Formats: sequence, C-alpha cells, structure tokens
Amino acid sequence: MIVKTYLLTILILFIHQQETSCFINNFQPLLSITYDTTSKLFLKLKSSFYHNDQCLIDDIKKNITELELMINKNLYGQHIAGSYVLAAIGSHLIDKNPSKPLTMIFHGKTGTGKNYLATMIANAYFKNGEDSKYYHFINSRSDFPLDGSIDEYKKLLYDMVIENLKTCPESIFVFDEVDMMQPGVLDVLVPFLNYKRNKKIHHNGYFIDIITNRAIYIFLTNTGSQEIIDTMIMLNNNGKKRNDMVLSDFEHLISLGAFNEKGGFYKSDAISANLIDHYVPFLQLEYEHIKLCIEYAFNSRDAVANDESIQDVMAYVTFEEPPYHRFSKSGCKRIEQKTATILYKNRSKDET
Ligand SMILES: *[C@@H]1O[C@H](CO)[C@@H](O)[C@H](O)[C@H]1NC(C)=O
Ligand SMILES: *[C@@H]1O[C@H](CO)[C@@H](O)[C@H](O)[C@H]1NC(C)=O
Repeated sequence: MIVKTYLLTILILFIHQQETSCFINNFQPLLSITYDTTSKLFLKLKSSFYHNDQCLIDDIKKNITELELMINKNLYGQHIAGSYVLAAIGSHLIDKNPSKPLTMIFHGKTGTGKNYLATMIANAYFKNGEDSKYYHFINSRSDFPLDGSIDEYKKLLYDMVIENLKTCPESIFVFDEVDMMQPGVLDVLVPFLNYKRNKKIHHNGYFIDIITNRAIYIFLTNTGSQEIIDTMIMLNNNGKKRNDMVLSDFEHLISLGAFNEKGGFYKSDAISANLIDHYVPFLQLEYEHIKLCIEYAFNSRDAVANDESIQDVMAYVTFEEPPYHRFSKSGCKRIEQKTATILYKNRSKDET
C-alpha cells in the first residue's frame, strides 16, 4: 500500500513536471476544439498554431535598459509618464506568466509624446522596432472611420487580434486617437484583456485556446487633456512645481470620468470591468521642452541650434490663450519638419 502510494506520487509529480516544463520551455499553446474535431478548419487552425514560439527567437529583444536610456534622453517634459510606463513594462517583462496582458491608456494633447513613447517601446521590445510584424499600430480615424459599420469593425478587430496573438502572444497593439473612434468598438477586446492566462476564445463557431496574458495594449487619446492642464495650473497655484507633480496628483481625474468621456471607451465594458491597468497623464509641453525638441531636431541633422535658429523654429509654435499661455498648443508635433525647412532655406540662401 505504501509502495503503491509512493509510486502514484512519483507518477503525479512526473506528470506535473512534464506539464509545467512543457508550458514554460516550449511554450506550446494548447489547442482544443469544442465541436467537430475532424473538420478542415480544425486542421487549418492546428497547423497555423505551432509557430507560436517563433516570435521569441525571431524578433523579440525586450531590452528594458534601452527603453530607460531612450526615455531619459529623448522624452521631454514627461517625468510622470516616463518613469511610470518604464516600471509597468519592466514588471510585465519580469513576470513570466502575468495574470493579464498589460493595458495602458496614454492621455494628453497632440505633440506631448504619446506616439513617441509607444515608438520607444517598440524599439526596445523588437529588433525590428516599429517594423516588427508583432507591432500593430491601428489608427482609429483611418482604420475605423466614423461612417462605417460598428459590427463590421468589431469583427475585423476581433479577428485581427486573434490572428496576431496566435502568431505571437507577445504582440504589442497600439490604438491611436481612440477618442475619434465610434463608442463600443473597443468592447470587443474585453475577452483578450481579461484575467485568465489561457483563454477559450470563440472564433468562427469554435472555441480555441489562446494565450492572452503576454500581450501589451496601448491606447492613445486626447481625452482628458484639458483636465490635465487645469490640474497642472491648480497645483502650480498651490506652489507645486511641474517636476514635483506625481501620478497621484492626477488620479482624481479617473474617478471624475475625465478619461473616458467620449470615443472608443465611452461607456465601455473594459473600463467598467477595470481591465485598464494604467491611466498615464502626458503633461502639456512648455517653452523649455519645445526648445529641447528643436535642439534635438538640429542635432539629428548634423546641425547645431543657436539662439537665432531656435527662435526661427519657435516662430511656428503657437501657445494657448491665457491663462494657459505657458503651454504650447501642439507640443513637439512637426518640430522635425519645421526644423528641416529652416535648415533647407538657410542652406539654399548660402548657395545663392
Ligand atoms: C540592452 O541595451 C543596452 C543599451 O543600448 C545595451 O548596452 C545592452 O547590450 C543591451 N542588452 C542586450 C542583452 O542586448
Ligand atoms: C545658417 O547659415 C549660416 C552660415 O552658414 C550659419 O552661421 C547659421 O548658423 C545657419 N543657421 C542655421 C539656423 O542653421
């Protein structure tokens, strides 16, 4: 009897060991089909399933040191977003089997660096950066125009996410301008954002098992940017300097609903089910930050900016109306192009 129990224990331990090592080392996703297992679709799905660990070998770099360097060097005026997002990505990377995918919303006006930070993440994550086939940038305005059918968009988005998670569970999805999206479209993402490591997902009449917890979803939106400025002014009037502001200074905006008033997340299931991990405020940029962007733009064209050339570019930058006049209207957006134009004019002036 004792021997039998002993053997049984060994057997159980052995099976357990097999299972865990299989999952962690080979990272083979399980495929289970609830219905007709002999159909052609089953065979097709099965064959498309097994290049799953390929993404790890191919293109995954996941260099958090590199992300930190890029943030410290080139993300101007965003000390809160920079340090917070770095920590969020870092902890997602360390956890081999997180309880859910990482989901973040970047809130702020155009030109504050939301896209820029997403690009930095792509570059630190994938060898091919933004060109990686596991980096998916979805422009809400052009990919899901307002006059189209919501149901069609939902199906497109759902299928797109499934296909890409099948190819690589560590895919990154970035949705730009979600405030310009029809309300409700993003609710289709709820099964993917949810807690549960391996998820049975309904797809074309079948249930398939899919690894959902290793992906990253980043949503970019202007929603809440006016509230962010108002909060900055209020804090400033209370004697708090910009660089001393912390994330919790902006957290009341979440409960006020300032971050989900319109667009893709309006009255959203994802928001009400708390599937968003981080609301990240991007602060409106001021003169000194625009200046850094201009200097960087000159440097990246092998030129050096002096006071005069900085003023030349700055002439194109517009600032808000009082009492917000400290803040630029569109941040560092198009600074690169403005700088290029000025350099070109100056060079052709030399030649004539
Ligand atoms: C990560 O990036 C840093 C900075 O670019 C570099 O020095 C380091 O070698 C990289 N690490 C790996 C493992 O590639
Ligand atoms: C324009 O060209 C002159 C002469 O080559 C140079 O001294 C000046 O710094 C240039 N200005 C800018 C904006 O690069």
